[in-house]
Amino acid sequence: MTTHAFPTSSFLFGGDYNPEQWPREVWAEDMELMRRAGVNTTTIGVFSWALLEPREGEYDTGWLDEVIDALDAAGVSFFLATPTASPPPWLTRAHPDALPVRPDGSRVLHGSRDTYAISSPAYRDAARRVARMLADRYGHHPRLRGWHVHNEYGTIDHGPHAAAAFRRWLQQRYGNLEALNDAWYTAFWSQHYGEWEDILPPMQTQYLHNPAQVVDFKRFCSDEMLAAYSEQVAEIRDAGSAAPVTTNLMLPTWNHLDQWRWAEQQDLISIDHYLDTTGPDGETHVAYAGDLTRSWAGGPWLLMEQNAVGIREGDRTYVKDPDRMIRNSLGYIARGSQGSLFFQWRASAAGAESWHGALVPHAGPESRGFEATVALGRMLEQIAEVAEPPAEGPLIETEVGIVWDANGWWSLETPHLPNESLDYSAEVRATHRSLWRAGIAAEFVRPDADASRYRVLAVPSLFAMDDATVAWLEDYVRSGGHLVVGAFSGIADEHQRVVLGGYPGRIRELLGVRVEEIWPLAPGETVTLSDGSTVEEWTERMTLTGAQELAAYASGDLAGLPAIARHAVGTGRSTYLSARLRQDARDDFWSRLCAAEGITPEVPDAVGTGLEVVRRRGANGDYVFCLHHGDQVLTVTGPGHDLLTDRPTDGGLVIQPGGVAVVRTSPGTTWRVHAG
Ligand code: GAL
Repeated sequence: MTTHAFPTSSFLFGGDYNPEQWPREVWAEDMELMRRAGVNTTTIGVFSWALLEPREGEYDTGWLDEVIDALDAAGVSFFLATPTASPPPWLTRAHPDALPVRPDGSRVLHGSRDTYAISSPAYRDAARRVARMLADRYGHHPRLRGWHVHNEYGTIDHGPHAAAAFRRWLQQRYGNLEALNDAWYTAFWSQHYGEWEDILPPMQTQYLHNPAQVVDFKRFCSDEMLAAYSEQVAEIRDAGSAAPVTTNLMLPTWNHLDQWRWAEQQDLISIDHYLDTTGPDGETHVAYAGDLTRSWAGGPWLLMEQNAVGIREGDRTYVKDPDRMIRNSLGYIARGSQGSLFFQWRASAAGAESWHGALVPHAGPESRGFEATVALGRMLEQIAEVAEPPAEGPLIETEVGIVWDANGWWSLETPHLPNESLDYSAEVRATHRSLWRAGIAAEFVRPDADASRYRVLAVPSLFAMDDATVAWLEDYVRSGGHLVVGAFSGIADEHQRVVLGGYPGRIRELLGVRVEEIWPLAPGETVTLSDGSTVEEWTERMTLTGAQELAAYASGDLAGLPAIARHAVGTGRSTYLSARLRQDARDDFWSRLCAAEGITPEVPDAVGTGLEVVRRRGANGDYVFCLHHGDQVLTVTGPGHDLLTDRPTDGGLVIQPGGVAVVRTSPGTTWRVHAG
């Protein structure tokens, strides 16, 4: 990643700009409104392929020149997208095989967007050509902030091109069919492969899929999309454009990509993030997205899209309050985003997403929504100095790491596990949520990364582990770390082959336990532990082979048997939770564990008040972000200066419910909060 990918004197503010939907007079108003709101960045051309290349090989860039000239005159920079997420109708007509195929063999037809078969040579060639044309034409433009390649890679193809590419990928991975048959356990159900050509992507089939095939196909799709991305990057670089390149990753509901590997290939990491709930859990969602993306990036990153005024939950779009939009925007920035960009600048008058929120809503600039846009722009100017990262060290100090692994998600989605309600992403998020509620800063860790700086390393339900991951965890514990492992971790190798002799076979000795049976609870059923915790969904019949009991099952069929155990190994220790703690019990567990480890919240008396406090380090000091999600007036006191009110905070800074503060302070300062 290039460290100079972001300006250091300001935050990026703006969003997707799609002026091709509007007549020229609206463009003029756009420039005026952008100036009024302090917009400095747009993303253009995301879905413009059909306009940029109306016929194969024939380009029409006149309108884009005009857009760029208008932005330039208004002093607004731009990310230029390559439009390859939305192939134009002519491409489909000329190359029907460039359309994706579903698992049932049916071909998805034109009529929406993202209708591309990632392995189709015709699609890949056309994508490279249009990226090259744009790079040749605009790659040196002084207002080019960066390249936004494609949009949210994630269309999965099961067609003949994908099948052929999948086989090539498998040949690379396994070398020969014998190794593949062994890894995939094909002796079961007569699946033994004698010819490579017989291997297919996991298509619609009679009963359960082969789990190893399912996970390998996920890995393949991630690699295949990354190859397509890299081809476009190569064209851009070959054209001599030195601007940073990114693609917007979609969080957190999509699990199509191995984000750690993708992160290595990008100059800056960007995500799109859409709240999935109107309730208070939306705030933990923002923190989760921010921490995850900062971890992938290893530093600053960029929020490429969010919704300014709407929250989509189920089949309706609820209104997002201006206060919340501002709090959320600062929440991402507190956790490392170098800006707040939105989808989209102006709400479309028609089309599939005309009811999606925007910085300029349907009501126009005379609206509460646009006032909030202007207010946010002003705030980002006031806190501009925060944008400069520290010369060294992390943006946020953390002592707790949470292992994140795309393979873990994929492996827990394979069919017919003993209790399919166990959801990898929900487990990871539940752990993060508990830490968030305890006011403890956390980040995410790639298996195999240097984990020595974490006093505690959490491994939520990592079902499958390869040899390197096992060795890495052992090393972490032996060197003095505290490993906390969630139920159903370390059961299988990377091919989903269960390690025999008692679960969790991969890390049985490290945990000092032996599980003989998995005991799912019925939906809604709960069991109590001896420490008063409530567990749901998942329990295990476990014996201790070296570990000490921390809590036992106190009710249910396993009453009297150990439920949580701790094992001393080397200079460190491991803790194993054989049960799925309900969220309240999980919150207690993590808050007690952190306290015992001497890991403290930034502001202990903020915990439980609804005030989220995040300390982001900068070149000129630390910045304490106070985001008040609660409903009580609070006063925050500590040595510093609030950049938003331009007032010292030593004598106390009052924060209204829904309000925010961004305080410049020194490293090591302590803060207090009280009601009123
Ligand atoms: C994003 C996408 C945008 C827009 C937005 C609506 O995922 O990149 O183009 O569709 O969702 O929420």
